[in-house]
Amino acid sequence: MPTIPAVVDSIASVESLLAPSPADAVAAEVRAGLTSDPKTLSPWLFYDEEGSRLFEQITELPEYYLTRAERSLFTAHADEIIALAAEPSGTDPAPMLTLIELGAGTATKTGILLAAAVRRQRTVVYQPVDVSETALAEATENIRTNIPGVTVRCQVADYTTQALPLNRLPNTRTLALYIGSSIGNFSPAAARDVLRNLRAQLLPGEKLLLGTDLAPCESKTVAELEAAYNDASGVTAAFNRNVLVRLNRELGADFEPDAFEHKALWNARESRMEMHLVSQSAQKVSIPANSSGPVLRVNFKAGESIHTENSYKFTPERIRELLESAGFSLTRTWRNSEHVFAINLATAI
Ligand code: AVJ
Repeated sequence: MPTIPAVVDSIASVESLLAPSPADAVAAEVRAGLTSDPKTLSPWLFYDEEGSRLFEQITELPEYYLTRAERSLFTAHADEIIALAAEPSGTDPAPMLTLIELGAGTATKTGILLAAAVRRQRTVVYQPVDVSETALAEATENIRTNIPGVTVRCQVADYTTQALPLNRLPNTRTLALYIGSSIGNFSPAAARDVLRNLRAQLLPGEKLLLGTDLAPCESKTVAELEAAYNDASGVTAAFNRNVLVRLNRELGADFEPDAFEHKALWNARESRMEMHLVSQSAQKVSIPANSSGPVLRVNFKAGESIHTENSYKFTPERIRELLESAGFSLTRTWRNSEHVFAINLATAI
């Protein structure tokens, strides 16, 4: 049984280090995206309060297999993952793990891993990082009420551009979690940079658990993949359009969300799902002057799209290449029997 550092409370406590809301970042991102050709909006803009709520709903849709698949892998392998991450080393015969999570959201699946860590070491410090303050508040509340023994320290931050708030406790080892296939939102080069940024803050031997959705194969069809991003009940369509609702509210834009159609398609060449908002007619939108510059007038042709998301899907070889290009070695992969999803444990080298 590892020893427990004195700084860790035996009951859950909350220590929020909340940054100011990123209003300027939204304005700058929108100006850049809507003046480029083709037009784009970055997927992190989805996650205002309503967007985070809609995403939670997506994770429960019958078509959206990703969350269930990953959760079942955690349930089956959590103790093994924690044991591998806390393996004794020459310098530390019984390391205490600290868990940090990038893009934690409401951290519903993370509870399975936290519970396994508490089984092993009685208490654990958990540091979720996310751009959504409301999601983090919910994460903290869920974990605090359901898993005694966890100390939660949240940070509202964009982990793609900001250094991670790694508060190292003496004699602890970090296990970084980057789950839910969030890495899929990044181009291969950007994904490598995100993982390198994370790697730079780990010590050799520390581990990363990376969740990756898998590319179509014999047991996984393109149709299943497309259905996951275009569900029958229209929740994903609402999630996609909500970005326009957000821009109306936060920037005073005058989008008509219903004048844009939700489209999800598989791009085989790039091995990614894409989401678009397709303008149903020729239309003009204006966004008042703001911190990023003067009033912005955007013209849409009929059929013109705003590309709102890429969701890359990985082959086992690509996962290994990505990790190795960022300074990790792949230690172990667990896949569902139908090869729909994978969780990958990697070691910082
Ligand atoms: C949170 C980025 C993993 O790409 O599957 C869900 C977001 N978009 N439905 C994904 C999303 C449309 C999701 N990630």
